[in-house]
Amino acid sequence: MKKVFIETYGCQMNQADSGIVGKILSTSNYSITMDENEADIILINTCAVRDNAEKRIHNRLHDLNALRKKKSYLKVGIIGCMAERLKDSLINEDRVDIVAGPDSYRKLPELIKKSEKNNASIDVNLSEDETYQDIIPMEINSNNITAFISIMRGCENFCSYCVVPYTRGKERSRDPKTIVEQAKNLFDKGYRDITLLGQNVNSYIYNKGEGEKEVNFARLMAMVAQINPLLRVRFATSHPKDISRELIDTIAKYDNICKYIHLPVQSGSNNMLKKMNRKYTIDEYKEKISWIRQAIPECSISTDIIAGFCSETIEDHKQTIEIMKWVGYDSAYMFKYSQRPGTLAAKKYEDDITEQEKTRRLEEIIDVQRELSLKSNQKDIGKTFEILIEGESKRDNTKLFGRNSQNKVIIVDKGNHKLGEYLNVKVNNCTSATLFGEEI
Ligand code: 5AD
Ligand code: SF4
Repeated sequence: MKKVFIETYGCQMNQADSGIVGKILSTSNYSITMDENEADIILINTCAVRDNAEKRIHNRLHDLNALRKKKSYLKVGIIGCMAERLKDSLINEDRVDIVAGPDSYRKLPELIKKSEKNNASIDVNLSEDETYQDIIPMEINSNNITAFISIMRGCENFCSYCVVPYTRGKERSRDPKTIVEQAKNLFDKGYRDITLLGQNVNSYIYNKGEGEKEVNFARLMAMVAQINPLLRVRFATSHPKDISRELIDTIAKYDNICKYIHLPVQSGSNNMLKKMNRKYTIDEYKEKISWIRQAIPECSISTDIIAGFCSETIEDHKQTIEIMKWVGYDSAYMFKYSQRPGTLAAKKYEDDITEQEKTRRLEEIIDVQRELSLKSNQKDIGKTFEILIEGESKRDNTKLFGRNSQNKVIIVDKGNHKLGEYLNVKVNNCTSATLFGEEI
């Protein structure tokens, strides 16, 4: 049996996809190895969302080409968003053996076989209905406690900066029955925290227009939450234009739906939001935040921010900092704008903020967020939270770490505790990144 090593870059969706690939290959005469040195085939699951993610992969391919001189049998494949974006140029320029886009994973056994006959093999067709819903993914590199379930694929929002609608294609939702089954199955195996994934989960819809049979995202969340009160349910990502009262009420209603919402704002300026094709204004965004604060006062909120989008003025940038402070985000993912070929922004707007200025604005944003995260954590000192123990602390092997419902990491003494256990802890110290607590 030939051995396949799967290396994953990018978002949580890619991690879930690697599990699907693992399952497809392991039921088709390949075994999955966790040791790249013994691999006959290396598959790299890639991200195309920013240029630096792609640069990393090109460098990795350069190194693997050197390795292939020593191991002539070794085949290298690129799968995922970069495969979809760059297609056969990966074969011609990076000398990759296999190229498979996000909707071509069922073809991988065939594609690998073809490459073994020294034929370059590629499939980057996008599908309108592939959801892999019948495949129970393999849990790769799992802690056996937390898992991702992808509930839909693709995106049709066409935010002007974003390559995802082109690399992942049309939006399609999975049958809720298969999602609940997968979640139950994970729970039975001891998993206690699952995250339902989609590029825009608020537009999840199954059996649209069929009355009682129609399932929207709020209903799906409730169905998964009802599996067992000991199963924590999370989700990512929400689009601010679509987050509904019904969803917020559902989160409030079930104790085991985590009180944490990731609501990417991208910019605090209406001018930028318009150019980004985000389809909401800052006032509309604020209104949704107010709904959340009203219905779920203990909810934590995080965001994504892009610094230095096309023609962003200092005033636009200041407005981003204002919205950050207004919301008081608990955490944030912050990026410099990276122009992606083929997107609306690349066609319509000039990428005219210098690299140096993008870096300066990003650093300012990061500094503001560090302060906000610290403030948010300081407010938790003295409070008690239930945490789910997920692993050993990376810095200190006499400690364990877990997360609370709000998605904050809390470090505690090991004692006799085991992974997967729930524990009540009182927070007594913090940094901007971590809380420290003691069992009570
Ligand atoms: N440049 C910078 N950041 C981007 N994102 C998406 N596309 C780009 C781009 N071209 C960010 C957005 C999105 C997150 C997943 O990645 O903030 O929410
Ligand atoms: Fe990209 Fe916007 Fe779709 Fe998110 S919602 S994947 S940012 S196009």
